[in-house]
Amino acid sequence: MDSEDIMHQSFLKTHSKIVLALDLEIQDSQILVEKSLSILDDVKEYICGVKVNRQLLLLLGLPVLRGIVRRAHEYSLPVIMDAKLNDVGHTNAFMTRAFLEAGFDGVIASPVPGWEGGMDSVFDLARENGKAVILLVYMSNPGAAHFYSMIVDEDGRRPIFEYFAELAVQWKAQGVVVGATRPSIISRVRSLIGPAIAIYSPGVGTQGGDAREAINAGATYLIVGRTICSSPKPAEAARSLCEIIR
Ligand code: XMP
Repeated sequence: MDSEDIMHQSFLKTHSKIVLALDLEIQDSQILVEKSLSILDDVKEYICGVKVNRQLLLLLGLPVLRGIVRRAHEYSLPVIMDAKLNDVGHTNAFMTRAFLEAGFDGVIASPVPGWEGGMDSVFDLARENGKAVILLVYMSNPGAAHFYSMIVDEDGRRPIFEYFAELAVQWKAQGVVVGATRPSIISRVRSLIGPAIAIYSPGVGTQGGDAREAINAGATYLIVGRTICSSPKPAEAARSLCEIIR
C-alpha cells in the first residue's frame, strides 16, 4: 500500500472516495459484530476504506475489533482508528502500538499536545511501521469554530487551524481531517498543505455537509457514518453518494 496515501490503491480499485465510519450503537457485542460485518460486506464496492472510532472499541475491545480489521483487509480496504490521540508521549505510544498491532493502517491524532513528548511518539511509531497519521485540523460540529477559528497571532489575522495545517506539513502527516460542514475552511487548508496530503472530510449527510461541495473545495475523501450505517439499504446509500461525487 502507498504509504503516502493509504487509501489510494483501493480508490483506484473501487473509484470511491468514501471512507465508511463504522459507528453502530448496538449493546449486544455479538449482534454488533454481525451487523458491522454485514454492512462492510454490503458496501465494500462503494468505499475506499473504513474508519472505526471509540464507540466500537469500547463495546468490542481490540481483540474482537481485529476480526473486523481482517475482514476489511480481505477486501483490500485500509482501516483507520479514530481515537483522536491527544495525550502525553508514553500513553500515546502505548495506544498507537496497540492499534498498529491490531492491524490498523492509520490513526487519527490531535495536534494540541505538540511534538516533543506528545505527538512525536505517534508519528515515529507510525513511520517505523509504514503506517499513516492523520491530523485533526478542523472539526465538523457547529461549536468547532470556538476553538479551531480562534485567532492566535498578534496581528489578529491567523486562526489556530492554520497552524495545525502547517504542523501537518512539518510533521509529515499523510492526511488531515477537516469537517465537510465548512467548505471554505477545506479550501483554505488545501491551499496551505498543497496537493500531496489527503484531506478527510467528515460531516456530510446527517451533520448537514454537502458531499459535492466538500470535494469541490479540495477534500480527497469523505468520512461517512450514519448516512450509510443507519440507512435501511446501506449499499444503496453508499452507491448514491459515490455517484454524487464521481
Ligand atoms: P456521521 O454519522 O456524522 O459520522 O457521518 C462522522 C464520523 O466522523 C467522525 N467525525 C469526526 N472525526 N473530526 C474527526 O476526526 C471531526 O471533525 C469529526 N466529525 C465527525 C465521527 O466520530 C464519526 O465516526
